[in-house]
Amino acid sequence: MPASSYRAIGILDSGVGGLTVFQEISRLLPHEKIIYFGDTARMPYGPRPEEEVRRFALQIIGFLQSQEIKIAVVACNTATAAGLSHYREQSDIPVLGVIKPGVDAALGQTQNGRIGIIGTAGTVRSSIYEKALREARPDLQVIARPCPLFVLLVENDLVHTPEAEKVAQEYLAPFDRAGVDTLILGCTHYPLMAGLIQKTVGPGVFLINSAEEIAREVKTILTAQQLHNPLQCPEPGYRFFVSGSSHPFEEVASKMLSRPIKAYQVTL
Ligand code: DGL
Repeated sequence: MPASSYRAIGILDSGVGGLTVFQEISRLLPHEKIIYFGDTARMPYGPRPEEEVRRFALQIIGFLQSQEIKIAVVACNTATAAGLSHYREQSDIPVLGVIKPGVDAALGQTQNGRIGIIGTAGTVRSSIYEKALREARPDLQVIARPCPLFVLLVENDLVHTPEAEKVAQEYLAPFDRAGVDTLILGCTHYPLMAGLIQKTVGPGVFLINSAEEIAREVKTILTAQQLHNPLQCPEPGYRFFVSGSSHPFEEVASKMLSRPIKAYQVTL
């Protein structure tokens, strides 16, 4: 068994969105240590140029590696779209992204061949989902729309407000008109408002949240590379780091994970 099996799983996102991935990984792999990084000082990533997001992600992966991780999970669609292959080239540990698991799940789900995608401006601009979907099935009808305000609603705990309902109606109306039966939540923040999204698009549309699929992928890699933590401790230890002030992150994270979360602010 490699010595690195004692190390942690590293997860990164621009803010609280990647916690949806944290939740699934900690549920599926309860004996693994996890180190989470939310780049709250520089979020949202969505409107930023691709090259800048790529630089931020590489910086964070470097930080996580200094904290002794054995695998890095880019729990951010925008950062995955900006350069997953670069992160892989520049790391000596496995690096996973969130796009492929969502694509696979959507392909398995759609009945009528009409798939919708919502994501940040950066993710939608990259067309990464459309390309992957059409490569697998050129006959698909795919429609993608950016929903930039969703990230801010989640980060500021404003999902349950009349304003959020209005924003959701406006952003999601094109999917109703297009008759999609499957909608990819192409941003890790969006599962945190899945209730409102589902209510707005109606029960006939299946929402794809790639967090579960990515957790399975992490498990597969740890098994294949014999990297599971040999210590079967019930409380393996989670650490949360943020680049901005820790309080707003702690508040949203504690609510979401239903336990008090302490986050440490670091400067990269
Ligand atoms: N949660 C991220 C994503 O999946 C980024 C959101 C943002 O910072 O704009 O794309």
